[in-house]
Amino acid sequence: MKLLPVIFLLALTAATSALDNGLMRTPPMGWMSWERFRCNVNCENDPKNCISENLFRDMADRLAEDGWKEMGYDHVMIDDCWSSMLRDKDGRLQPDPQRFPGGIAKLARYLHDRGLKLGIYGDLGTHTCGGYPGTTLDKIETDAQTFASWGVDFLKLDGCYSNEEDQQKGYPLMSKALNATGRPIGYSCSWPAYRGGLPPSVNYTLLGEICNLWRNYDDIQDSWNSVQDITDWFFDNQEILQPEAGPGRWNDPDMLIIGNFGLSVDQSRSQMALWAIMAAPLIMSNNLRTLSSEARAILQNRAAIAINQDPMGVQGRRLLQERSLIEVYWRPLSQSASALVFLSRRQDMPYQYHTSLAKLNYTAGSYEAYDVFTGKTLSGLSATTEFTVSINPSGVVMWYVYPKMHYEDPQDDGRYPYIRQKYRMSSSLHFHKPRVVPPSLL
Ligand code: GLA
Repeated sequence: MKLLPVIFLLALTAATSALDNGLMRTPPMGWMSWERFRCNVNCENDPKNCISENLFRDMADRLAEDGWKEMGYDHVMIDDCWSSMLRDKDGRLQPDPQRFPGGIAKLARYLHDRGLKLGIYGDLGTHTCGGYPGTTLDKIETDAQTFASWGVDFLKLDGCYSNEEDQQKGYPLMSKALNATGRPIGYSCSWPAYRGGLPPSVNYTLLGEICNLWRNYDDIQDSWNSVQDITDWFFDNQEILQPEAGPGRWNDPDMLIIGNFGLSVDQSRSQMALWAIMAAPLIMSNNLRTLSSEARAILQNRAAIAINQDPMGVQGRRLLQERSLIEVYWRPLSQSASALVFLSRRQDMPYQYHTSLAKLNYTAGSYEAYDVFTGKTLSGLSATTEFTVSINPSGVVMWYVYPKMHYEDPQDDGRYPYIRQKYRMSSSLHFHKPRVVPPSLL
């Protein structure tokens, strides 16, 4: 028996750790209906805000016309309550005829014409969480085919009204069924959220092989409390969760609620900063028609997005929880850069936090720090330089840190290629190619 090819094949299989559809090599970005618009189906009284094709077309227009698409926000995702209460005569899901008179395929075309992608929602169970028809095991193939035939690009598969056994079978089956359609369809699995989010009930190795992202924990609500509850859970469990994320496979702490009613400007920056550190999907659920300029500036912050979308795709960690209620978060980035977030959990006044990069485990060397929300650059930092940041209550200071290096290659102008070119940051910002090894904290 020829053993070598077998060993080679086995090695290949082992190396394929993410869902092999080539999608979502960086965390997905876009807009989703649920947190802001819920299951509002009352189009008679509330035509602008009910779950209907108009709402999704409107949001697509905003993404395409207000600079979002260029920043990477390219998905419009329909959440629950889009379908008719009945399947059609062939057993296929169909949209509610009053609210989606043009049908989903037409809506998908509308989006595709604008360079956007369409996401849809299903539920592995008898019913969706909102009580609409679910996708029982016998309907998985039909529904995957239906979504593909409509030109859908993404599926969120929820888990209400299903049991452990059905989930065990159904989530992998849907992954296969989506693949079998031949259409690349991003796949979000709510499975772990229904099993407590942690091993041994949750098998993250398997999830990484069958899903592009997964909801691990409770639904976000429109409040700072909810953001704190979610981030605490994710970082309290970082030893388990952090290694599971990577290109094509992401933990999902749920939607961005920036621009709604529950967060102050500081808290909005905090959500953006922490989602960037977590390599979380940046899926807004807000009203893009009436966003304040502050909310827009935070959601379209180029450096925060570039950090979130870093191609290395390593999720960050909480480094410190100080007795002063200051917390420090860190994420390693490509090109030997890194992101630091100083978060205040205090409720009194801005806090002056003193530290140094060395205290945060950075190796000796000289660094620069770009302040993500003020746009100022701090240069001449050595690892041991003591510095002070002033952090507002429930606010953050967020830094993009990079080693300041001498140029070794005369052809190399020292500019940091990814963050500058993709997000066209201001030319006052100079990124230098690293000469030595980056901060090594993991
Ligand atoms: C669950 C999900 C939410 C949303 C609703 C829809 O609660 O976790 O994100 O999809 O169902 O009913």
